[in-house]
Amino acid sequence: MTDAADDGGGEAISALLHETRQFPAPEAFAKQANAQPGIYEEASADPEAWWAAQAENLTWDRHWDKVLEWDLPFAKWFVGGRINAAYNCVDRHVEAGRGDKVAFHWVGEPEGDNRTITYSDLKDMVCKAANGLVELGVKAGDRIAIYMPMIPEAVVAMLACARLGAPHSVIFGGFSSEALSGRILDSDCRVVITADGGYRRGAASALKPNVDEALERCPDVRSVLVVRRTHQDVAWTEGRDIWWHELVDRQPPEHEAQSFDAEQPLYIMYTSGTTAKPKGILHTTGGYLVHTSTTHRLVFDLKPETDIFWTAADIGWVTGHSYIVYGPLANCATSVMYEGTPDAGGRDRWWKIVEDYKVSILYTAPTTIRTLMKWGEEFPESHDLSSLRLLGSVGEPINPEAWMWYRKYVGRDNCPIVDTWWQTETGGIMISPLPGITATKPGAAMKPLPGIGAAVVDNDGNEVGDGEGGYLVLTDPWPGMLRGIWGDPERYRETYWSRFPGYYFAGDGAKKDEDGDLWLLGRVDDVMNISGHRISTTEIEHALVGHPSVAEAAVVGASDPTTGQAIVAFVTVKGDVVAVGEEGEALVVALREQVAITIGPIAKPRQILLTPELPKTRSGKIMRRLLRDVAEHRELGDVTTLMDPTIVQMLDDQMNAPGAADEA
Ligand code: WT7
Repeated sequence: MTDAADDGGGEAISALLHETRQFPAPEAFAKQANAQPGIYEEASADPEAWWAAQAENLTWDRHWDKVLEWDLPFAKWFVGGRINAAYNCVDRHVEAGRGDKVAFHWVGEPEGDNRTITYSDLKDMVCKAANGLVELGVKAGDRIAIYMPMIPEAVVAMLACARLGAPHSVIFGGFSSEALSGRILDSDCRVVITADGGYRRGAASALKPNVDEALERCPDVRSVLVVRRTHQDVAWTEGRDIWWHELVDRQPPEHEAQSFDAEQPLYIMYTSGTTAKPKGILHTTGGYLVHTSTTHRLVFDLKPETDIFWTAADIGWVTGHSYIVYGPLANCATSVMYEGTPDAGGRDRWWKIVEDYKVSILYTAPTTIRTLMKWGEEFPESHDLSSLRLLGSVGEPINPEAWMWYRKYVGRDNCPIVDTWWQTETGGIMISPLPGITATKPGAAMKPLPGIGAAVVDNDGNEVGDGEGGYLVLTDPWPGMLRGIWGDPERYRETYWSRFPGYYFAGDGAKKDEDGDLWLLGRVDDVMNISGHRISTTEIEHALVGHPSVAEAAVVGASDPTTGQAIVAFVTVKGDVVAVGEEGEALVVALREQVAITIGPIAKPRQILLTPELPKTRSGKIMRRLLRDVAEHRELGDVTTLMDPTIVQMLDDQMNAPGAADEA
């Protein structure tokens, strides 16, 4: 634990805590809601029985013998049960006569480039892809890397893996080749599924070259399956590279799904921790599917026959896994899936999509809401958004101003907003209002869901009272919980279960207000939240120090009006390196590029300050707390423990000097 308890950014947080407005659920919504009052009591009377009742909504090949086996911190859910995730997401809906129902209205970034995919279509596509993977020698348990743009084949690839019991590891398309190879190697993937490229910000961007570069470091990858999306020229390695259309299109559209143990690994998703090496979060099948489908039904009030559901996120993150793929498909929802950026083809692109497809439920991140807000309300106002009936937010604390804007200009003052707190590790939503029940407060995630145990504790692990703050912990096992860190069971125990014995430590600060409702306050560890993306300070320090000119680097997250937090780096250079004038400027450019190459463009620091020294305590520890003060233009805190207090003053002057503005 560091001194970072104030990490979430001072001003935004204090605005959160002075918020007193409340919005009861509209009566008409409450009447028809999937979640009715009494649900909390029902679940808390016997959580395992309640989860078991939810699990009955899925189709099991063999019923479980036992709901939960809990050997802290190792959980098994639906023990003895057998199930196939892809069958539950696709086949069973077709068998139930809903094959003609649309699974995805896919919207490509170039306008007019759209596809409609029914559940029957999806079944054929998944079966063909599964047969293709079998031809490549894929077996249950093999790990498959997926590095793709937001196209239907990405979902098909995931489901084909799930169908075969081969855990997928989806790597966000914005990650660099180095990040890609690190992840491929960590879980020893032997097959990579990718595309020539994808459309992003109005242009075709390439993916295949990153794979080629990554695989120079991954000699064990034997097959690369490439979807043709952009028709860019691609380099080709004979014997290793295969076009998706050449392999998959000629496969039969039948494939019998085998059943797997409920605890069969479903996927690995890498996320940043407090060290330089990302952790492979492992999710398994039965419990995860129960958790995502149940929360999707209750939190988003999904009515499969009438709703058009849109999670505006990328499948490269857990939000896409749980609420574009597994939750909605298990519930036979009709979803919109959009490939591109919110302003591709105009700043009203999103609202055009909502109007064209009559989207009724929209789920997105605060950083995007703030961007849309900056562009102005004329864009949502110029479209008919009356199909919307529920709005969701995820990824970081939502500031009351953005919440109110979302409510007013997108929800026309009559859509409940669900601010959903969860993590890659939790698999699905944990803390959120239930629309139709909860009177919401702008900026508060409110209450643990039925069947979920959460608490706010102080430094010693004692629960705090109403009106007090501390650390968020999860007090009971839950079906969608991570089952471990790939290849490192000790790290799993150490990271999540050692800080407060018996509790899962989420890494977030939280406060209980006078009514006992929960307000999330941001990370309390060395993890930053940049536009809802988790990036660790250590990861970036590591990347910077990888540059030959750099001696030492310290990175902090500073609050930022659009991205929530922004990355600010303080760097000292090696003895003979010139770090002033034009050479200094060129070095800063090179260092930002260094970070993009090592991790990905999303991790580029907003600012890099070159400094002759870093402020350190007499025992040699870098004082990140003071660097955060500098980065956020705050009055400097206590400097008396510093070896040389003049350094931090100098940095502060440098930061506040004219021309030290953002580089991003
Ligand atoms: C971290 C998890 C869950 C999918 C996207 C992010 C922050 C997430 C909220 C929220 C306040 C939130 C937390 C958490 N976070 N949702 N509604 N209110 N903070 O997943 O990359 O695993 O990041 O995101 O700090 O620990 P992730």
